Amino acid sequence: MLRKEQNDLITQTGPKTAMGDLFRRHWIPALLADELPANDCPPVRVKLLSERLVAFRDSEGRLGLIDEFCPHRGASLWFGRNEKCGLRCPYHGWKFDVSGQCVEVPSEPVESKFADKIKLKSYPLVERGGVLWTYMGPVEFLPPLPEWEFATVPAKHRFISKRFQECNYLQAMEGGIDSSHVSFLHSGNLESDPLFKGARGNYLMDREAQRQGTTYSGVEGIAIQDGSLQESMGPIVDRTKENLVSTDNGIIMARHRLMKAAKELAKGIFPPGVEPAHQKVRSASVILPPDQPFKDAAREALTVRKGVAPASV
Ligand code: FES
Ligand SMILES: [Fe+2]
Repeated sequence: MLRKEQNDLITQTGPKTAMGDLFRRHWIPALLADELPANDCPPVRVKLLSERLVAFRDSEGRLGLIDEFCPHRGASLWFGRNEKCGLRCPYHGWKFDVSGQCVEVPSEPVESKFADKIKLKSYPLVERGGVLWTYMGPVEFLPPLPEWEFATVPAKHRFISKRFQECNYLQAMEGGIDSSHVSFLHSGNLESDPLFKGARGNYLMDREAQRQGTTYSGVEGIAIQDGSLQESMGPIVDRTKENLVSTDNGIIMARHRLMKAAKELAKGIFPPGVEPAHQKVRSASVILPPDQPFKDAAREALTVRKGVAPASV
């Protein structure tokens, strides 16, 4: 259980929030690389940390992530024309390059240099491991590029997918940490759906399958099983009403680490997870001798070792 102020602290990630500042010190995934497949392809809307942005790939392949709204009178640049190294607002023709700099205001004389004075908010966007990553924090703290194992192996060694889930990030993250739900919610699908492939978007609840036990909840596909219950809690679950048990220990520890890192950052302490060395971690399943602490006995299995397959039982 969290107090209301703790729940607010840990779930709010917009600009000028403590948790938002923490997120903004890391490279975060913005899009799949496939979503901007070619130069001058259609722009893509992306909302990150409560900021509405638009991403595009210009005529020379440069990637841009800029404010979604035109600084003239606020039209969405998602409707823009992606042409000749810039995104042009279709309302009155103002044009912006990948850095957000306005490069053309057709109604004003060029000599006035009016366009030079207009610049949209923009963030770097880089491709790595089939993902387009962005960094939305202070320029002076720009970290090294992400070194997560999946982002560094050859493309044929990874599978990347994306789905929309209408709830706060923490509900999804806590679902990922929560090992005890796997034996219930996913019990019918562990062999058949290991890569979450083919999961469908509407939940398509099947009460007969639920009754028969073909699927435990009646929803098919591991990812949608998770999404259905995490969304069912509402956009931001009220954690003051929880009754946690011992199997929620991982979640409790993760919450405390997040809140600690956010509070420490406000005091100027460098956050964890930014250094590439912190990213050299992989998931693993191992059976440990009962007399050895998890931290020591599982350390090797949880560490990325090139050429060594992940540990599995
Ligand atoms: S609103 Fe975009 S050019 Fe006028
Ligand atoms: Fe799950």
